[in-house]
Amino acid sequence: MRRSVWVLGIAISLFLAGACKAQQPGPEYRTTATIKDIMDSMVDPSADALWESVATIVSAAGTDERRPKTDEDWKNVRRHAVILVEATNLLKMEGRHIAKPGEKSENPGIELEPEQMEKMMAEDRQSFIKLANALHDAALPALKAIDAKNAEGLLDAGEAIDVACENCHLKYWYPLSLQAEARKSGAASPKK
Ligand code: HEC
Repeated sequence: MRRSVWVLGIAISLFLAGACKAQQPGPEYRTTATIKDIMDSMVDPSADALWESVATIVSAAGTDERRPKTDEDWKNVRRHAVILVEATNLLKMEGRHIAKPGEKSENPGIELEPEQMEKMMAEDRQSFIKLANALHDAALPALKAIDAKNAEGLLDAGEAIDVACENCHLKYWYPLSLQAEARKSGAASPKK
């Protein structure tokens, strides 16, 4: 009797040890694509599709207010909104790199190098997460407007999405352009 209680105790502790081990955060995600890839493959094309779906096109023939019209139009634009909303979660995944090893900035001097961006992110992950969440929260009204077939709502959401893109890019991708602007306006009016 005593012995079987003892054996049961061991069995329970082994079971608990196993359960704890399973709960430890591990490499459960496979972060194959880079942030640059996700921008190029998901974020940029899906945002473009939203912006273009409610564009105003001015030509010699006149002004064309492009809006989603048929159910198929709305269904299609909704697919892009879903990609954009959820891509923001992919950006935040631990272990995701900015670019491939050794990959260099395409516009050095204007854009930071990928390793500089990674360093900034590693030192202050929360700021990056906040900016990715801000894009999520800017894209969500687009999804809601689409579900309500509200083209004006989609147009407004499009502007907020643009701001969310720019806020993250100005911090990580081309902060040098801000510094150059500041220098220029400083030189034009030194007293300011
Ligand atoms: C949370 C931060 C963040 C947000 C939000 C964000 N981006 Fe980016 N994006 C980056 C970073 C970092 C890079 C630089 C990666 C690189 O090119 O090395 C980048 C690069 C890009 C690139 C260049 C990709 C390439 O192939 O070089 C495009 C295009 C782009 N973003 C579009 C967008 C658009 C459009 C939005 C909004 C709908 C957006 N991004 C929102 C962080 C962000």
